[in-house]
Amino acid sequence: MYFIGIDLGTSAVKLLLMDREGSIKKSVSKEYPIDFPNPGWSEQNPEDWYRGTAEGLKELTHGIDKDEIAGIGLGGQMHGLVVLDKDDRVIRPAILWNDGRTGVETDYLNERIGQEKLSEYAGNIAFAGFTAPKILWMREHEPENYKRIDKIMLPKDYIAYRLTGVHCTDPSDASGTLFFDVKKRTWSEEMMEICGIAREQLPDIYESYEVVGTVKENIAGELGLGKDVKVVAGAGDNAAAAVGTGTVGEGKCNVSLGTSGTIFIPSREFRVDENNTLHAFAHADGNYHLMGVILSAASCNKWWMEDILDTEDFASEQDGIDNLGENRVYFLPYLMGERSPHNDPNARGTFIGMTLETSRKDMTLAMMEGVAFAIRDSYEVAKSLGIKVERTKMCGGGAKSPLWRKILANVLNLKVDILAAEEGPALGGAMLAAVGCGEYSSVEEITEKVVETVLTVEPDPGIAALYDKRYKVYRSIYPRLKDVFKKM
Ligand code: XUL
Repeated sequence: MYFIGIDLGTSAVKLLLMDREGSIKKSVSKEYPIDFPNPGWSEQNPEDWYRGTAEGLKELTHGIDKDEIAGIGLGGQMHGLVVLDKDDRVIRPAILWNDGRTGVETDYLNERIGQEKLSEYAGNIAFAGFTAPKILWMREHEPENYKRIDKIMLPKDYIAYRLTGVHCTDPSDASGTLFFDVKKRTWSEEMMEICGIAREQLPDIYESYEVVGTVKENIAGELGLGKDVKVVAGAGDNAAAAVGTGTVGEGKCNVSLGTSGTIFIPSREFRVDENNTLHAFAHADGNYHLMGVILSAASCNKWWMEDILDTEDFASEQDGIDNLGENRVYFLPYLMGERSPHNDPNARGTFIGMTLETSRKDMTLAMMEGVAFAIRDSYEVAKSLGIKVERTKMCGGGAKSPLWRKILANVLNLKVDILAAEEGPALGGAMLAAVGCGEYSSVEEITEKVVETVLTVEPDPGIAALYDKRYKVYRSIYPRLKDVFKKM
């Protein structure tokens, strides 16, 4: 019996085939383009997502007994606005999670409607990448398109819709729309009214591990799938990654360094910090989580290596860097503005502290440290809520770098667990499918059986103390530049 996990990422869709015991038998990845039509904007074509997914599924199922494939679970980039007209045509390119065009609408929601009300209705305040301000942006800037909206969807749900014909989503992904009452796990009447949308335009909510339907017969044939392949609702990529890394229940933590960077802390009860700095979202296991999100993480590394240093040999650039905690250069990783904790679409990437002695390696190290410091910003908020964790798991492309693992362990002063399977969200999707198909009784049960730690990186007290000092300096840079960023 096999289960397919699909992670609809920002740079590529990653698919894997998992057996009942949780072993990954095969994986495939298909890239697609991303458009930046204006500074700080980012868009993708949902048709590219579907094409990549369909090609990936064909390749994944090639040579596999199709009757052995029982279910599919999706994880995907969150918050993206996908809008369909009444004939199921995509109205405009999807506006993605890291798109910062909605500064005005975000301010309107936070200041005119008010953070207190938003927090009461949706458990969260508005951030530029969330779905609700994007709808307000469309109403203002593209009234003709706005009038044609029949269905509003999130990215992974568009794929589920193409596969099954069911307009669905799950609580973890719905949490990032700001139309959703996270605590009650239902659409918020108040938020729908504020944003001028009707319930019929929004999808039905299923828990992440619940079956929403089966793959349509004509599509199943095309993609090498058998009859009655079940599709579960799946989860936003961070909640799916948390399932894939076993970050469920209480007292756990996961840091993902993908295109975005996140720190994810699950809990059985709904909780929220006083200023709503961290996202208070639903989890894919039926519970909740707090999450800090930085908009550029491994993408800082890709930008620095490929676009600036003009190299694809990432490992050589990191070779020989051993002066952890002693660097004099700082980097603010705000290449697409920043979400947590600053909520500032105007923020920009910054190197500061160079001298004539600064080397290429110092700059590379500063870039990696800056990402870790930005994650620490959110971790500090979690600590201020009394949340205590002793260790964190680490996943995403950045987790492949031994240097980044060490930096993170020392900047957070936490043990960092590296897992046997690196495919966080795709594995989580497959695990949710296995629960939905009845192979396991709960998400917690499958994580206990399947997730395996292969390595733990321990912080070094001396290096952690040096990083503590450096973090204080790092933290003082953004407030001094905030107004400068605005003028840029
Ligand atoms: C989470 C977020 C990002 C995207 C990236 O709030 O915006 O992590 O989900 O795929």
